[in-house]
Amino acid sequence: MARDDVRSVGENNQVNSLDGKIALVTGAAIGIGAATARMMAEVGASVILADVRDVEGAAVADEIVQAGGTAHYIHLDVGSQAHWMAAVALAEQLFGGLDILVNNAGILFGRDVEEASLEDWQAMSAVNQQGVFLGTKHALPALRARGRTSPEGSAIVNLSSVSGLVGSPVDPLYSMTKGGIALFTKSTALAFGRQGYRIRVNAVHPGVIETAQGRQTFAARARKLPSGDVAEARALALANHPIGRFGTVEDVAKAIIFVASDDAGFMTGSSLVIDGGLTAQ
Ligand SMILES: NC(=O)c1ccc[n+]([C@@H]2O[C@H](COP(=O)([O-])OP(=O)(O)OC[C@H]3O[C@@H](n4cnc5c(N)ncnc54)[C@H](O)[C@@H]3O)[C@@H](O)[C@H]2O)c1
Repeated sequence: MARDDVRSVGENNQVNSLDGKIALVTGAAIGIGAATARMMAEVGASVILADVRDVEGAAVADEIVQAGGTAHYIHLDVGSQAHWMAAVALAEQLFGGLDILVNNAGILFGRDVEEASLEDWQAMSAVNQQGVFLGTKHALPALRARGRTSPEGSAIVNLSSVSGLVGSPVDPLYSMTKGGIALFTKSTALAFGRQGYRIRVNAVHPGVIETAQGRQTFAARARKLPSGDVAEARALALANHPIGRFGTVEDVAKAIIFVASDDAGFMTGSSLVIDGGLTAQ
């Protein structure tokens, strides 16, 4: 199939990287997910925003539509099988299928092993790991179907973390979930590639990004300092970033969009690190 069958060229001859694509982004109400949904719509995708924060999620979808984009919000707890089935059915019904799944929803508690309870672990793994498994499983038929006619196939992007590459200084349970996602990404990439499914699977590994979760990590780091001072914890974390700043949600959204797009057609099973040099040391 010619590339232009799926990539439209606008009046200004601008080819947008996600023209004609249908994407589902979890955890899209705030933070990295919201930025990704906004930017995906700007570069041509029809976007389903999914989250448990209904008021904020619906507001982001409305904002995208007001700006001329195509978006719809759905309540989706990523740990729920029934919610996943409904979300994928909605993408098919509204937009005709699914090309891109961004498994972005994730939580962190910032607790050491001594502090964390079994309930903490169960709650975290229900989102960070069960959510990624269920999303992959239930989106698979729809992604396979669109992958057959898309130039470089469909794409899954899983949000791991630098804490999925090196140990988290504040949350060993989080590191366990994010390290698992990194290898689930590689394993599913191999399986789907070898089975001829035309679905690429890649992980992105953000460093310290200024979001609600990013601020949670500063608070958790501060609890480990004699001063307990959050500003000091921020300054220490910043000193660890060779590039001289923390990341923004847009830094991560751009990387997600790149690996989701046909421009990354030869990438699968990869780990893309967006961390200002934090883990290069
Ligand atoms: N911010 C960082 O520094 C950082 C660093 C590395 C990795 N990450 C990862 O990036 C992803 C996004 O992080 P963020 O900083 O934007 O987080 P955030 O806390 O700002 O937003 C997370 C979103 O996920 C949603 N969510 C939580 N539980 C959910 C569930 N059960 N079902 C559906 N949605 C749910 C929340 O409602 C929220 O909208 C996460 O997977 C996170 O672990 C973040």
